[in-house]
Amino acid sequence: MAVCRSLIAGHPNEKKRQVKQIVAYETKKPLAIAPRSHKVGSMTDTAFNDLSSLGSYLKTRRSSRPRNMTAPGPSDAELRDFVATAIRTPDHGKLSPWRVVQVDLDQRAALAQGFIEAYRADKPDAGRLEIEGLEKIAHEAPALLVVLFSPISSTKIPVWEQELSTGAFCMNILHAIHEKGFVGGWITGWPAYSDRVRDMFGGASEKIAGFLYAGTAREPLEERGRPDLDRIFGKWDPAGH
Ligand SMILES: Cc1cc2nc3c(=O)[nH]c(=O)nc-3n(C[C@H](O)[C@H](O)[C@H](O)COP(=O)(O)O)c2cc1C
Repeated sequence: MAVCRSLIAGHPNEKKRQVKQIVAYETKKPLAIAPRSHKVGSMTDTAFNDLSSLGSYLKTRRSSRPRNMTAPGPSDAELRDFVATAIRTPDHGKLSPWRVVQVDLDQRAALAQGFIEAYRADKPDAGRLEIEGLEKIAHEAPALLVVLFSPISSTKIPVWEQELSTGAFCMNILHAIHEKGFVGGWITGWPAYSDRVRDMFGGASEKIAGFLYAGTAREPLEERGRPDLDRIFGKWDPAGH
């Protein structure tokens, strides 16, 4: 497997998020369960995205914030291969209700322009910080894939199942990014919910499932709290559910 390009867990200073209504990046607010003491996925000074085995990777998987990604990023061939990997995603009815659009680095200015025009159409009074926030997210990370949910209506397979498949598809792209030693990040934020932004990539029946960024970690990844296993897993109690 590839050598992991992400850095080891540490304590970097986290930059303050700027425009939270545009992209709600996770914050450093206190976690309900302390990352180093919880029962699930507890990692003490262990590398994230440990590629020594599939199991170790899955138990140490960690995304990066796109703003913390730098070059080198994946090549065109690698990006294509990430999507090829995700083609094996579970997909009831063989509908493949997902597709991917690659946005190259030299297209980021046009992406930013599109974000800003869409935002201003919705919010004519947009302030400077909001516009700068959009500029930033359009330029982050060396690689960007836009995943579209493309539902098939002429089928008895429920839309819900097509949405589930699309989420799994995104997740598999993330795994493929990490498997090649890069870090990935799955972001929605304001642009994913703008019809005008959606129109830049797809048709009226489609939705943006995510902006998947990829690159090399510029800063050490930090642990993120995970739920207590006993809270989310248990044996069926027919009386009490
Ligand atoms: C559908 C979806 C949309 C997301 N959108 C954002 C987002 O806009 N901003 C953000 O900070 N994190 C977002 N996240 C969360 C990150 O992708 C990431 O999962 C989170 O930061 C935790 O990191 P982890 O992947 O290592 O668990 C989103 C996750 C999902 C599944």
